[in-house]
Amino acid sequence: MYLACVFFLFSTDIFRKLLHGKTRLKQSVFLLSLLSILLILNCLPYPALHRSFLQHQHQRHYPVLKRPLSCSGGKPLFLLIAIKSLAENADRRAAIRSTWGREGTVGGMQVKRVFLLAESERQIRNQAAGGILEEESLEHGDILQWGFRESFFNVTLKEYLFWRWFGEDCASVVQYIWKGDDDVFVNIDNVIRYLKGNSNPKLYMGKAFVNWYPVRIWWNKYYIPMSMYSGKSYPPYIGGGGYLLSRESILLLSKASAWVHLFPIDDVYVGMCAQAANISAQDHPGFITYEDLPFEPCEYRKLMVVHKVQPNELYLMWSLVKHQGQSCPG
Ligand SMILES: *[C@@H]1O[C@H](CO)[C@@H](O)[C@H](O)[C@H]1NC(C)=O
Ligand SMILES: *[C@@H]1O[C@H](CO)[C@@H](O)[C@H](O)[C@H]1NC(C)=O
Repeated sequence: MYLACVFFLFSTDIFRKLLHGKTRLKQSVFLLSLLSILLILNCLPYPALHRSFLQHQHQRHYPVLKRPLSCSGGKPLFLLIAIKSLAENADRRAAIRSTWGREGTVGGMQVKRVFLLAESERQIRNQAAGGILEEESLEHGDILQWGFRESFFNVTLKEYLFWRWFGEDCASVVQYIWKGDDDVFVNIDNVIRYLKGNSNPKLYMGKAFVNWYPVRIWWNKYYIPMSMYSGKSYPPYIGGGGYLLSRESILLLSKASAWVHLFPIDDVYVGMCAQAANISAQDHPGFITYEDLPFEPCEYRKLMVVHKVQPNELYLMWSLVKHQGQSCPG
């Protein structure tokens, strides 16, 4: 396709005349218009990341390198917190472990935690980098790591492989799952309270994105060419830092994923599987980003999840939430 486009352009008379244009200006105008024609005809080659994704799209089985203790023991768990992280984000994991991500009893319910990791570039190249993670895994028992390369377009594999691991190791003991990133603050008491009152067996809830269009701009991080997704808009999906699922939802998503092609944007992929499994994305106003955080700490009580939070902000928000009980009206 790409070659055909170039061939077409080269064979035109205008091209030959313009290429030998005398002035700089003429030449740059020409190059710009050439670029826009290629863009309009969707003739640009895939960026390297996309090429790599397409090359490995059909490979979805990777070995588990490290297993957590989370679901071992067979004791019932109300909530499993599953957090996507990178090997180098040890500070974020430490902050989460000592604030909202604590294991144990919360609001009378049993909570456990697991971090989802792949192999960092450093770990692949140098064994010593893996040793530090090994220590962390032995100490906390909350690392689930797979043997694939950590990269922006490989994040979807974490969704897919997490569902599979869940089905094998956790499905019989866990009732609900919080699934999200390592740069979020979660008002865990609110989450537990909400889940205790939940009556939707096919829960898939967070910040819902409905009728969002694929980005067709070549240099954008989220660029998706027509050949990878030709639909007008994406199916409804939950995005922005984290969401809640029921056990039944995960099992249905996992089943549906067998016939849904992997898609490079992880949140959208979950939406695609949800659509295939007839699970609807449910919006909740308590899922926000840090920029939209209210100034009034008493307002935090209404929040569920705040996205894009640095570890130091996370400690601060945690202590504000813990101490608001006495000082807030109502
Ligand atoms: C995803 O991981 C596989 C296995 O490690 C690797 O070969 C591939 O290059 C990665 N894909 C991207 C887009 O980085
Ligand atoms: C999808 O789910 C809705 C309710 O959740 C139900 O009414 C409908 O029959 C389901 N459709 C299919 C095809 O399973």
